[in-house]
Amino acid sequence: MPARSSASRRTVLRGAAVAPVAGLGLAACSAPGEQAASAATSSVELGAEGEVAKGTAKLYRDHGVVVSRDAAGDLKAYSLVCTHAGCVINKLRGTTLVCPCHGSEFDAVTGKVVQAPATEPLAELPVKVSDGRIVAGPAA
Ligand code: FES
Repeated sequence: MPARSSASRRTVLRGAAVAPVAGLGLAACSAPGEQAASAATSSVELGAEGEVAKGTAKLYRDHGVVVSRDAAGDLKAYSLVCTHAGCVINKLRGTTLVCPCHGSEFDAVTGKVVQAPATEPLAELPVKVSDGRIVAGPAA
């Protein structure tokens, strides 16, 4: 029985992680359905465009988002909800995101896993610059 409930929980969390902006609501550790639903309807202004230089990344913990900028200057945004079991990632080391729960690591520029136990990349979020401000959230 424990194995079955664990498997079904993982399925639910994976479903939440691929929702468009599940991460924006920091939904994974509480009530995924409720918060993801409300967060999915609006974009979130994160900060000034200049806060994320080329080749760096920045955590926006309050919004559950990491924003990175590659060497070409393109911005990417990812949910901070770990794809392993849904903890919120709270640590950035260079451009490597570290999950506090079981030590999974992700590349903040690509969203890909660089250290197990997670196997799935982070959920990518739409991101744009509007009037010099970084805005992440669902596509208009
Ligand atoms: Fe992140 Fe397990 S929830 S490593």
